[in-house]
Amino acid sequence: MDKILAAIALTLACAVSAFAADTVVFPAKNGNVTFNHKAHSAKLECKLCHGAGAPSKIEMNRDKAHVLCKGCHTEKKAGPTKCGDCHKK
Ligand code: HEC
Ligand code: HEC
Ligand code: HEC
Repeated sequence: MDKILAAIALTLACAVSAFAADTVVFPAKNGNVTFNHKAHSAKLECKLCHGAGAPSKIEMNRDKAHVLCKGCHTEKKAGPTKCGDCHKK
């Protein structure tokens, strides 16, 4: 039974892996960050975040997030740059 459930879970995971969720929540001790992928990808080129080639998983960590997310918001003078505007308790 466990094996069957695991197989089903794996199949589902593979089936959705090529699609991005509308929103992604990055857990953080100082307040989780909600990223609206749908809104961002509607206005911005995929390669700005995913780089060249077919968009795939981005390994996220604190430094990467702050450079990528905050960096673009600062550069474009749009989007949150204050801690509490991204990190919501
Ligand atoms: C503003 C940055 C940004 C833009 C622009 C963007 N993405 Fe993403 N994308 C992300 C982040 C962050 C994630 C979530 C982290 C992760 O799982 O890679 C993600 C996840 C994904 C995933 C899921 C990857 C996986 O295997 O879990 C796909 C597919 C994807 N994006 C496709 C696209 C496409 C296609 C476009 C252009 C139409 C696009 N993205 C534009 C930041 C962006
Ligand atoms: C543009 C959005 C944004 C802003 C602004 C921002 N952060 Fe973050 N921060 C993130 C994201 C996204 C992550 C999660 C990265 C990950 O998944 O590892 C993160 C991760 C962190 C973490 C790691 C949390 C953990 O549980 O490991 C700390 C600490 C942190 N940020 C502090 C700050 C502080 C302090 C500020 C203000 C000076 C700030 N952040 C501003 C988006 C932001
Ligand atoms: C390449 C540029 C770019 C990158 C990278 C980017 N953003 Fe943004 N973001 C924007 C812009 C532009 C806006 C303002 C959109 C508007 O006001 O219509 C915005 C708005 C937002 C907002 C406020 C509106 C909303 O959707 O709730 C949040 C929160 C946010 N971004 C989080 C993030 C996080 C977290 C990341 C990294 C995972 C990120 N952004 C990466 C350009 C970017």
